[in-house]
Amino acid sequence: MAAAPPLRRTDSAQGDFSPLKHFVLAKKKISEVFQQLLNYVEETAEFVEETCESKPLENIASQDQKLEIQAYADKLAIIQEVLARRHMKVAFFGRTSNGKSTVINAMLRDRVLPSGIGHTTNCFLSVEGTDEDKAYLKTEGSDEEKSIKTVNQLAHALHMDETLDAGCLVRVFWPKTKCALLRDDLVLVDSPGTDVTSQLDSWIDKFCLDADVFVLVANSESTLMNTEKQFFHKVNERLSKPNVFILNNRWDASANEPEYMEDVKKQHTDRCVNFLVEELKVVDREQAPNRIFFVSAKEVLNSRMQRAQGMPETGGALADGFQERLMEFKSFERRFEECISQSAVKTKFEQHTIRAKQITEKVKSIMDDINIEAAEKRVAALEDREYQIDRLEFVRNQLNLLMNEIKQKIKALSEDVESKVSGAMGDEICRLHVIVDEFRSDFHPSPQVLRLYKSELLTHVEKGMGKNLAYRCSDAVNASVQSSQNYMIESMLPLLPSSVQSKVNMLVPGRKFDLSYDLNFSTLCSDFQENIEFQFSLGWTALVHRYLGSVNAQRALRLMDNKLQASRPALPPASTPSSGPPSICQSNNDTALMTQEDLMVMMANNVAALTSRTSMTVIIAGGVVWRTIGWRLIALSASMYGLLYLYERLTWTTKAKERTLKRQFVDYASEKLQLIVSFTGSNCSHQVQQEMAATFARLCQQVDQTQKELEAEIRQLTVKIDRLETVQSRSKSLRHKATELERQLEEFTNQYLQPGHRRH
Ligand code: GTP
Ligand code: MG
Repeated sequence: MAAAPPLRRTDSAQGDFSPLKHFVLAKKKISEVFQQLLNYVEETAEFVEETCESKPLENIASQDQKLEIQAYADKLAIIQEVLARRHMKVAFFGRTSNGKSTVINAMLRDRVLPSGIGHTTNCFLSVEGTDEDKAYLKTEGSDEEKSIKTVNQLAHALHMDETLDAGCLVRVFWPKTKCALLRDDLVLVDSPGTDVTSQLDSWIDKFCLDADVFVLVANSESTLMNTEKQFFHKVNERLSKPNVFILNNRWDASANEPEYMEDVKKQHTDRCVNFLVEELKVVDREQAPNRIFFVSAKEVLNSRMQRAQGMPETGGALADGFQERLMEFKSFERRFEECISQSAVKTKFEQHTIRAKQITEKVKSIMDDINIEAAEKRVAALEDREYQIDRLEFVRNQLNLLMNEIKQKIKALSEDVESKVSGAMGDEICRLHVIVDEFRSDFHPSPQVLRLYKSELLTHVEKGMGKNLAYRCSDAVNASVQSSQNYMIESMLPLLPSSVQSKVNMLVPGRKFDLSYDLNFSTLCSDFQENIEFQFSLGWTALVHRYLGSVNAQRALRLMDNKLQASRPALPPASTPSSGPPSICQSNNDTALMTQEDLMVMMANNVAALTSRTSMTVIIAGGVVWRTIGWRLIALSASMYGLLYLYERLTWTTKAKERTLKRQFVDYASEKLQLIVSFTGSNCSHQVQQEMAATFARLCQQVDQTQKELEAEIRQLTVKIDRLETVQSRSKSLRHKATELERQLEEFTNQYLQPGHRRH
């Protein structure tokens, strides 16, 4: 027997460069990408949620987008969990005693699974790695970890458990430290013989759909049986192009008949190729030889175990051609590892990678949408703010201009009102006697009647005067106040927001402006004192008045009568008609309103006045002409004087007294009213000014309010613009992140999923 070749050379399947690493690395890489993707989508979901719920940013991110991204995050979390559990799975099938369990043990380099003559494996057994030091098993439907120390113990445990049937699964956990194959996420599934069951369909459903590679362990001492073939046909129906390897086991037996070996091998090979290529159509003819191997699992297991115990590999009796068969087994292992890692990467990661790309694409497009929406909203908000700033500026400037203009207007208007009222009042004073003459009431010189008469006269005059003034001024003034108010409102209206504009009536004062003159006549003329005592025109008092003037006369008379009349009231400045008109216009209409009797009395007075003037001259010249003219003339004069006195005394009737009182009142009131003309004018102008100022203030308040509202709006817009900018930049950076993740996914695809790619 040839010496064993160096051991290490053939041990590559268990070395660091195992093709299984391809899957391990791919899994690590895709898990990392998915972790990043999950973090990214969660970050995005948070961002969208914030954007969606923020008030000023409403409608930028919709509720739908929020839910969509949330769903992606959930989906990714699930995929990530699935990925973490992903492993490569190889399932071994074949008739009883073909050596399935032995092949697995040989691959694991230890007697992990029980094997023996006769039907040994009575249920499905999966072998996977555990990080724990000791081996254990888990039966279906129980989480209990049953410790196993030896294979016999395992076999015993399996046989003793009556609940286990051929369709059950027992998971064997084997320490990864003991077996490199298990470190690389490989799960090996042993099965009961295909010939001992009728449950093939349920086996496929339960154990085969996620298997990456199927190994048919055949017995090289016999031909492929129909039960074996039938099973693979069924698998082939359910899976598209399953990876099938055929191990012609027990090839050591051929060493007994070396002369037939090549023929038998060829026969087996042809049948197997035919089965794979023609019947199953899972591989093409050129590739088929890479799927068919002639091995002896028993030998490989024995030699590997011996080596593990430090003994020579070839120790014990070995049939001829052992090295060849060992090489063939290793070659199977290599091909199998290449095939399973390649296939598993594709079947287990490709769909998820595509899904991840779709999700990234979707999230990216949502970020784009948000970015665009935010940009549009920002531009709109900027324009809006610009407009509001312009408007505020306009309102401010306009208000300043209007303020000056309206102040001027108010001033002009009040001045106008003052002059109008003063003028009207002057006119009315001139026409006072008309109002007084119109007054009719019982007149009697007795004090009680007189008092009543006077108070009624006062009321009448006040009423009449008020009426006349109102007639002359009020309408015009009210109208111009009204029009000025309208002007004010019209010019201020554009400065107010439309909501206030529509309620313009609110700005107009509720009541109509009405000028009040407030002459307060009764107080003004309360100290009027009439003088209706009879006074002879040539009497002492009258003469004194005539020659000393009314003021001096009063003084002189008061001086003289000091003792006789304790409290003589001041006389009206002009008590007689001959003392000249009290105002320029009085005589104009005098005669027009007089009755016949009045006319007569008047004429008599005039004659008396004329006569008294003549007699004055006579008296003055009396002393000079006394001697020349003589006593007759004097007597005549005296009798004429007497006659005149008699006449005047007789005409001094009640009517005449009333007339005199009225005249005195007119004079008195005219003078008093003259005094308050300018006061009344300014009072009225003040009223107008007040009214206008009140309206203006109301308007200004509204404009002020508008300004404040505009300022608040501008502030709000600024906040909104800032937030939109943040949203824009965040959505942009999140979009960049998506691009980066896409790049990583693409890289993963190129590295692991491209069809031409075979080895990492
Ligand atoms: P079941 O579990 O009953 O379906 O059988 P199995 O396919 O698992 O076969 P197992 O591995 O139990 O092997 C059956 C018998 O065949 C055992 O006694 C093994 O020692 C023996 N055997 C396995 N492989 C070989 C081989 O390559 N050569 C020889 N000579 N015997 C082998
Ligand atoms: Mg078995």
